[in-house]
Amino acid sequence: MNTTKIAPSILAADFANLQKDIEMVNSSEADWFHIDIMDGVFVPNISFGMPVLKAIKQHAKKTIDVHLMIIDPDRYIKTFAELGSDILTVHYEACAHLHRTLQAIKAEGMKAGVALNPHTNINVLKDTINDIDLVCIMSVNPGFGGQSFIENTYEKVKQLKALIISKEASTVIEIDGGVTSKNAKKLKEVGADVLVAGSFVFKSSEPLNTIKNLKKITAS
Ligand code: DX5
Ligand code: ZN
Repeated sequence: MNTTKIAPSILAADFANLQKDIEMVNSSEADWFHIDIMDGVFVPNISFGMPVLKAIKQHAKKTIDVHLMIIDPDRYIKTFAELGSDILTVHYEACAHLHRTLQAIKAEGMKAGVALNPHTNINVLKDTINDIDLVCIMSVNPGFGGQSFIENTYEKVKQLKALIISKEASTVIEIDGGVTSKNAKKLKEVGADVLVAGSFVFKSSEPLNTIKNLKKITAS
């Protein structure tokens, strides 16, 4: 079985020393870079956009996992492919024609992800699960780092895992928001494949060790 992947969220990095934090992730045991793009409309916050991702890409040596918290994401699929995104995740709640959006992401050579807000039931993905490479279960309401983990997430992961198995899909399950060493092990046990961690990594005194520890906790 594959080990659980850890994806530090750059939203919690020091934007005045971005290269330093990117190099830290490069040299760590982390697997992916998680990049949060917010438009101030779909979520009540604006993070950063294309020029910053372009700068990140120049230094990042691992998979670029882009999480779009924007309305009408179809407008920017091509742009994010050109910027070097490996995985492009859109919100279920932001897509009127999700199936078409997923095909468009794949046509640009990226893996296609769908994120679900805490209030969105797993069942809405029943008819598309075989077209989805990654489902990102939001374990906080999207928009901000540093929020508390919503406990109902475990139940959603179990339901999603059951759906993936019943449909014989190869979809990867990612958890985003409030991930710490306290919930990492249980998340892995209920079926999570990728854990995004922002504040827990970047606000810790020794981020390299924090990442190492998350890998260790989820290894067995
Ligand atoms: C929230 C973002 C998350 C966030 C996670 O809207 O999608 O990726 O950066 O941050 P933490 O780990 O601090 O909850
Ligand atoms: Zn995210």
